[in-house]
Amino acid sequence: MAFQPIQAAVRTKNVKYAVRDVVIKAQELESKGKKILYLNIGDPPAFDLDTPEHIKQALIDKLSNREARPRVATYCDSMGIKQAREAVLAYATRKGLPDVKLEEVMIAAGASEAITLAIAALLNPGENILTPCPGYPLYTGQIPVYGGELRPYCLDEDNDWQIDLDELERKVNSKSRAIVVINPNNPTGAVFNQESLLKVVRFAEKHNLIIFSDEIYDQILFDGEKHISLAEISGDIPVLTFNGLSKNYVMPGWRVGWVIVHDPRGYIKDVVEGMKQLMRCRLCSPHLQQYAIKAALEGSHEPLRQMLIKFKERRDITYQMLNEVPGISCVKPRGAFYAYPRVQLPDGIDDNRFCLELLEETGVLVVFGGGFGNAPGTQHFRVVFLPEPSVLREAYGKIADFTAAFYKKHSFTPA
Ligand SMILES: Cc1ncc(COP(=O)(O)O)c(C=O)c1O
Repeated sequence: MAFQPIQAAVRTKNVKYAVRDVVIKAQELESKGKKILYLNIGDPPAFDLDTPEHIKQALIDKLSNREARPRVATYCDSMGIKQAREAVLAYATRKGLPDVKLEEVMIAAGASEAITLAIAALLNPGENILTPCPGYPLYTGQIPVYGGELRPYCLDEDNDWQIDLDELERKVNSKSRAIVVINPNNPTGAVFNQESLLKVVRFAEKHNLIIFSDEIYDQILFDGEKHISLAEISGDIPVLTFNGLSKNYVMPGWRVGWVIVHDPRGYIKDVVEGMKQLMRCRLCSPHLQQYAIKAALEGSHEPLRQMLIKFKERRDITYQMLNEVPGISCVKPRGAFYAYPRVQLPDGIDDNRFCLELLEETGVLVVFGGGFGNAPGTQHFRVVFLPEPSVLREAYGKIADFTAAFYKKHSFTPA
């Protein structure tokens, strides 16, 4: 009998990652000669930004210093090299996390790997993790892989996308094991205030949940916002804090991230042991890159300051131009480099279709709101405001013209 095609596991069929999935269509159009304006992916060095020189130099020095025999070609400790873990520990302490110990810091191949290992170490089939809606799709992509169920909780768009305790109470059940908070949030750019975060702590305490605090954008803040780490204010409630170099230090392709365990009472000792076991199974995260951590966290932050000046201008253009479009309204992003405008659409048309037609007609690539989650009855899209101001202006001009024409075609008048 001839060899038969072999099917992928059913679990892969539910894994969606809109941020990259939408690129396939854009590339197809590009190959036919259409100019594409990429506002879809949060990849800073793809634009006019680069890894700070002193961080690159630290890696070059490590590779070229024959005297010291750096031996970066070996596997390293599964938890990460000591120098990097010490630098993360010092950073966490500077941020106000209480009593962090070295054995509570683990280095991973990006925050993504740390998040995935944490989900794997925690979830049994049929259990769930509460995830923000809208939120970053890694969580909703990975939870079903481990047989977990999705329980998205809606953020409150009418209150600057803050957290609504009643909504959390509606969504939790006896199978809930954790709650994810992404702060600053992707895709809304919301920065959570202390009130929202304390609600999460009280809620986690009441329902015996681990808090997953994704703080990958913690240094990308506007308007004098101060970032509060959940582990800073959670007391005895366990928090896994995820972070890394991808965004703050313009190094997404280097794949450097970490998790910090906050568990003063040892409530999640078993889960942490499970994570360490999974880390040993994958040997280690890339060795050389880990030398960037100390250089980044303890070196000059002038490049970050300069980057934030650029981002603020781009955020302001985004906020202003999108809000000028009839039918579109956008809450002001306070952090990260995303905006999540709401778009009114005629009945029967969703944001996926709107974004697809926008791409086909104008070449502007944004990600449809369904890829991050929408509260019932609402439609959105996410823009990444990393491109230079002239590109953003061109893109938002096209979005305005397209939206007006779209409404006309469907005889729709926005409220
Ligand atoms: C909220 C959030 N968490 C995690 C990640 C992935 O981080 P890393 O590059 O460290 O894997 C991203 C990337 O866009 C993100 O937006």
